[in-house]
Amino acid sequence: MTALRQISNTPQGVAIKPRTPAFNLEAALANDWLGNDPFMTAVFNAMSLSFPTGEKEFIDSVRVYEDRITDEKLLKEIRGFYQQEGIHSREHRKYNKLLCEKRGYDLQELEGVYIKSVVESRENSKVTPRVMLASTVAMEHFTAAFGENVLTGQLLGKVEGPIAELWQWHSMEELEHKSIAFDVYTQIGGSYQLRVTLLRVGLWMFFRNTMKVAFKMLRKDKQLWKWKTFKSVGKFLFAKNGFIRMHVPAYKDFLREDFHPWDVDNRALLRQWQEKLELTAVAA
Ligand SMILES: [Fe+2]
Ligand SMILES: [Fe+2]
Repeated sequence: MTALRQISNTPQGVAIKPRTPAFNLEAALANDWLGNDPFMTAVFNAMSLSFPTGEKEFIDSVRVYEDRITDEKLLKEIRGFYQQEGIHSREHRKYNKLLCEKRGYDLQELEGVYIKSVVESRENSKVTPRVMLASTVAMEHFTAAFGENVLTGQLLGKVEGPIAELWQWHSMEELEHKSIAFDVYTQIGGSYQLRVTLLRVGLWMFFRNTMKVAFKMLRKDKQLWKWKTFKSVGKFLFAKNGFIRMHVPAYKDFLREDFHPWDVDNRALLRQWQEKLELTAVAA
């Protein structure tokens, strides 16, 4: 690990800039908005349900170590990270409430799946603040890889309109702040072994919880035992352009000992979306 890795490694030209979006989700959330595919719509909706709980954990896990950070640039970026994640949670809370109203889902039951995991981890004495930060590092890497696949059109395909814009906005900001937790983890001397272990544990928990929530939704929609759903699950799990295999390169990247999130330079992609979405920035 080089000395350079111990300070902010967010490259020049990337500002962690919280924005205030306004998405009119009302009409679209009632439908299978992702390509009329009930399963993939449920997967994205289930992910949305995870954010208010998950992103609060991300913020808290970094905040514990904030006073150990001496790099002014990284400190400023940490504040941008808190703001961005805070606004993401706020917008996904609106999304989740509307979604449950429109489709008759039980918000408390669905969010409860994610909350239960957090409660269990708090009760586990092995889950120290360092473990929590390693988990954030791993999940932020996955979120950035997911975000890249959203912005390159691989996950959303031809979907347009306010829901797509919400996911694109969120993805863009995930790319902007993708190295914050990693740089904090490096500065506090976090180990390679722990971050890799937490990638495996974190991804498994995320997969299990998201599937659980998605299948609850599909059961409520009476779409669970449909051929269309089976086909979509098969594609998600096994197809070359399916969700799981799409994220394998990012998984392998993270296993490199000298990995850093900005080894993949997304600045051109970010610029393209910053211009396209033109969202108003929050005054810092
Ligand atoms: Fe976020
Ligand atoms: Fe994030």
